[in-house]
Amino acid sequence: MPSLRSVPLTPSMNSIAIVGLGYVGLPLSLQFARSGCRVLGLDIDVKKTDAINAGRTYIKHIAAEAVAEQRNAGRLEASTDFARAGEVDAIILCVPTPLNAFREPDLSYVLDTGRALAPHLRKGVLVVLESTTYPGTTDGELRTVLEAGSGLKAGVDFYLAFSPEREDPGNPDSKVATIPKVVGGYTPACLEKALALYGRAIQKLVPVSSCRAAEATKLLENIFRSVNIALVNELKLVYGAMGIDIWEVIEAAKTKPFGYMPFYPGPGLGGHCIPIDPFYLTWKAREFGQHTRFIELAGEINTAMPDHVVKVAFEALNADGKAVKNARVLILGLAYKANVDDDRESPTYKLIEKFEALGAKVEYHDPFVPVIPMTREHAVYAGRKSIAEIAADYDLIVLSTGHDAYKSFDFSSYPMPLVDTRNAVPPVRRPQKYFRA
Ligand SMILES: NC(=O)c1ccc[n+]([C@@H]2O[C@H](COP(=O)([O-])OP(=O)(O)OC[C@H]3O[C@@H](n4cnc5c(N)ncnc54)[C@H](O)[C@@H]3O)[C@@H](O)[C@H]2O)c1
Repeated sequence: MPSLRSVPLTPSMNSIAIVGLGYVGLPLSLQFARSGCRVLGLDIDVKKTDAINAGRTYIKHIAAEAVAEQRNAGRLEASTDFARAGEVDAIILCVPTPLNAFREPDLSYVLDTGRALAPHLRKGVLVVLESTTYPGTTDGELRTVLEAGSGLKAGVDFYLAFSPEREDPGNPDSKVATIPKVVGGYTPACLEKALALYGRAIQKLVPVSSCRAAEATKLLENIFRSVNIALVNELKLVYGAMGIDIWEVIEAAKTKPFGYMPFYPGPGLGGHCIPIDPFYLTWKAREFGQHTRFIELAGEINTAMPDHVVKVAFEALNADGKAVKNARVLILGLAYKANVDDDRESPTYKLIEKFEALGAKVEYHDPFVPVIPMTREHAVYAGRKSIAEIAADYDLIVLSTGHDAYKSFDFSSYPMPLVDTRNAVPPVRRPQKYFRA
């Protein structure tokens, strides 16, 4: 049985390399630095390492002062030189784990990082993987490349562990230090070493029996979200057909003090985790002759949501005597989630794609994403700019992300229909032609 550990163990780990300085790696680096460790951030992206060394930030919800403070204290530096991994007591990997074009796990970032680090591993070092992945990655593929490239043996010459990240971007109450952290080791000694590392920076640790149990824990958490979001998305359609408002029902249901937690419908899944991680398990399960029916059904329902939004948009325009073809459509929100600048897997991209395929002229507005960055999946949109103001001269507005700025915006005098996919606009600020999708 896992137990919560709240007492930091012996502070033996003083220097840590964190590889992959993105949404997970940067806040983690700052937390270890704040806890008094010397942190070396490693990344292949020189723009990120330069920014850190100059005391700047490149993630909107992380303050430049937080980076500068640790820089000035001499506890944080960044580099693209992986040979420097030989200087530290522990190495934590926070690199991407996307799906490939066939929606299969793409472990290339993890394994390339493993290969780059392996020649520099020294005896006694601890290596921890934090990237979300299927059970068996840490003690299987990653261990193999580390051992092959270093000539060292995991559990004998170096320590190996998995500890999933539980970052909640955009949530001001989500602090790396106070979110309990699950840790699994390749051997009992690996686990102890990993607990000693995280005990320096994190208040509550949850040891589990193996790397695989820790990997499976993270997947359970994300699959739980995906399935429950699919459930409310389906109920939105069912209750909608009955004339019942799903949002009202959720508000009422969440007053139950036990056995229920609210999930909310939307225009489709977004972000690096929920649309992707469950399929890591689907792929791995096949090797064991197992099917992940819940995951696939949830994926089917959630990926159909942008089509539902387009259908409601058709109805809204139709009621206004207009067609989608040649309509000027403004989409509010490009980020996948309220009040963050992360556009990865955002359902807004699907909406732009679908509206444009139907001949609409689409623009977007997002204070958090002023320019669409270059991404592998949506390269064709790179460089497009958010409009500056939410003007009133469109044929249709579709609210895709529930940014606070939209909740407080007064649409009441706007003449065009507004399709709200997030129940974001309060009744007093809604235009006359208000639709929910
Ligand atoms: N973002 C979240 O909220 C979140 C939450 C929990 C878990 N995760 C998981 O954490 C992992 C990282 O996610 P993220 O959101 O921080 O990704 P990210 O894309 O923001 O950051 C990844 C970083 O890794 C760097 N990188 C890529 N290849 C590299 C290599 N070979 N060597 C060194 N650096 C390399 C990139 O330049 C980038 O800075 C993923 O597995 C993700 O599923 C993310």
